[in-house]
Amino acid sequence: MQNLLARSLKYQGGQLFVLDQYLLPHQQHWHVCNSVPEMQELILTLKVRGAPLIGLAATLLVAHLAEQGVSHSQLAEAINDLEATRPTAVNLMHCMKRMRQALAQDNFVDALVATAEQLFNEDIALCESMASLGAALVKPGDNILTHCNTGALATAGVGTALGVIHYAHQKYGDIHVWVDETRPLLQGGRLTAFELESWKIPYTLICDNMAASLMAAGKVDKIFVGADRIAANGDFANKVGTYNLAVLAHFHNVEFYVVAPITTLDIDCESGQHIPIEERAEAEVKGVSGSFGECQWAPNNAKVFNPAFDVTPAQLVTGWVLDTGVYNLQQVKGGALKQL
Ligand code: MRU
Repeated sequence: MQNLLARSLKYQGGQLFVLDQYLLPHQQHWHVCNSVPEMQELILTLKVRGAPLIGLAATLLVAHLAEQGVSHSQLAEAINDLEATRPTAVNLMHCMKRMRQALAQDNFVDALVATAEQLFNEDIALCESMASLGAALVKPGDNILTHCNTGALATAGVGTALGVIHYAHQKYGDIHVWVDETRPLLQGGRLTAFELESWKIPYTLICDNMAASLMAAGKVDKIFVGADRIAANGDFANKVGTYNLAVLAHFHNVEFYVVAPITTLDIDCESGQHIPIEERAEAEVKGVSGSFGECQWAPNNAKVFNPAFDVTPAQLVTGWVLDTGVYNLQQVKGGALKQL
């Protein structure tokens, strides 16, 4: 496989490297990944995370294993096992479907490698299209609020929602970003803040529950978020807390955009009701952990509910910024997404 380089994933000199997003921003540690269990552990612990990146990391591993001479049946098993690692982001299923098709070809090693390179490079191009289309919606001086991390760390390219922000900043200079810290795993406070800082984009970190009062004070012009799966009717799943923002945006008349590539669309999924939502460990809500250490504040016996994502209904969305264009509610209701 050719050398492939992204912000948090790279294939170099015949080895697959994964940047540990759990340790960011205080430690930059690259894991070498050689097996399915290793990749599953990296994905499950969110060392590799973000809808497009999960799919690409699994894809590169399958191609790498094929080049190492792993048998056809073991590759088929690897694809199935990787696909089952996390349930919500459909990009993983999309990538594994493409790899399964490649595996069905006579010359399957070459086909898997070519498909992996293609998926990686396609993602870079998809990010560029979304970023350009989304940046056209931003005005100089805008205060933009975002949730979770949707940047270069989460994709092979510049990102989805954060890619829009990056391009808008390059275009106008004077934009400012409100960054939701994104409890429980703090992807905003740790990763988005880190990325905005490295891009020199002015930002202010807020607790998730501060968004309402900011909107009431007229301090939020637009919201851009990513997605893990968009259903055919436009409902979409994204990091838990996104739905709260959409409701607040609706009440305060703030434009609310979802930014995602075609690989996040699941037209076989009729509506948000059918999107599987991952539930995660109690410890993530009972306290906090990371490169800074571990701390539990809740009583040991506290009962916890920890869904990693929530579903935002289509009627709360101002626009769907996809790589193919920006779609409004009327177009989506008319079946625009089903035709893509
Ligand atoms: O649990 P995570 O960190 O993988 O969740 C990520 C998100 O919810 C992102 O908003 C989404 O994957 C879009 S990333 C380009």
